[in-house]
Amino acid sequence: MDTIGILGAGAMGSGIAQVAAAAGHEVVICDNLTIALSKAGKLIQTSLKTSVEKGKLTDADAYSLFSRIRFTDHMSEFRECSIVIEAIVEEIEQKQIAFKSMEAIVDEQTILASNTSSLSISAMGAQLKYPGRILGVHFFNPAPLMRLVEIIPGLQTHPEVVASGKKLIDGWGKTTVIAKDTPGFIVNRVARPYYGEALRIFEEGIADEPTIDWAMRDLCGFRMGPFELMDFIGNDINYAVTEVVFSNFFFDPRYKPSFTQKRLVDAHYFGKKTGRGFYDYRDGAVIPEPTRDEPLGREIASRILAMLINEAAEALYLRIANRDDIDLAMTQGVNYPKGLLAWADEIGIDKVVEKLDSLYVEYLEDRYRCSPLLRKMSRDRRNFY
Ligand SMILES: NC(=O)c1ccc[n+]([C@@H]2O[C@H](COP(=O)([O-])OP(=O)(O)OC[C@H]3O[C@@H](n4cnc5c(N)ncnc54)[C@H](O)[C@@H]3O)[C@@H](O)[C@H]2O)c1
Repeated sequence: MDTIGILGAGAMGSGIAQVAAAAGHEVVICDNLTIALSKAGKLIQTSLKTSVEKGKLTDADAYSLFSRIRFTDHMSEFRECSIVIEAIVEEIEQKQIAFKSMEAIVDEQTILASNTSSLSISAMGAQLKYPGRILGVHFFNPAPLMRLVEIIPGLQTHPEVVASGKKLIDGWGKTTVIAKDTPGFIVNRVARPYYGEALRIFEEGIADEPTIDWAMRDLCGFRMGPFELMDFIGNDINYAVTEVVFSNFFFDPRYKPSFTQKRLVDAHYFGKKTGRGFYDYRDGAVIPEPTRDEPLGREIASRILAMLINEAAEALYLRIANRDDIDLAMTQGVNYPKGLLAWADEIGIDKVVEKLDSLYVEYLEDRYRCSPLLRKMSRDRRNFY
């Protein structure tokens, strides 16, 4: 089997290395910090130990899986790899430098892939001698557990590179979707209103955090409410993604970041990992009870859901991905209870349009503009499915 290279042995690199080794590949994982390499080794071993304890893996399989991973601080060891997946810091210059160095080492046929969550794949390809080999492969965290991988061709990417990258990762038991090289790809774009609209509702004083969380969880079926989810992801990370999506979309007000979250970041109230976020997680602190007012909860849920559906419809309208991939991405990438386009059919597209139009009339803000696709479908009485 092919040897897989991974550059960057952080949270994502170590997870992807484990996935590739589990599929039977020899893996070379490289980081310029030796401490990161030893941390990655420990992380993978802990994860394998858990799988053994749960009976998902035998001791012998865990041992041989781990022995297929080679840890190194020399990029030259990528020489034999058929694909190298880069998972270093989220900075375009750093990634471009790393790809240039790798191109001097690997074969002409080697695919150079990036696990970036938000940067342009085409910009990474632009620096290469053979730009047709660049590919975005966006795994979710933790990579061994999350099934979705977004595959993102750059403008220059060869169709065969897309096909063989997709086939390889499908073979690792992942569900792949193809997304256009645009900010946030599918998931990080379509999910923005889950946070942004919840923050807006909170800022307007319509409801507090536990009530909004309760509405989305208990009345709508999401696994976590927006505020507990932002605290779980980390407000620093969640805010940074929003900011990147907002600026990369040339400041479209639909993605506008929130001051409420910015202040939490300023105060280092990152969420669970720092003990404080929207909620207080320190010893003895209790999460406040929601106001279980069902009409209020339904109003909140229908507003956030309409904004999410609008975003999914717009992604389809602008051909970021196809219908099935958009729904698959949201159910498997972020565990939404239903695909948003299927959900739109269930609610009734005319009702979603009505909700968006009422918000638009109320606020007179471009943020609430209804996707032309939804409006057209409502007029033509068509469904997504
Ligand atoms: N953490 C997530 O939830 C997540 C999810 C999807 C995608 N991503 C993306 O994956 C990438 C990595 O994220 P992460 O969370 O694993 O980061 P991380 O900070 O945990 O790890 C990055 C690793 O890269 C190493 N590194 C930095 N520059 C290097 C270089 N030039 N050569 C070799 N090693 C280098 C660092 O020492 C570090 O060990 C980023 O592009 C990020 O946007 C992250």
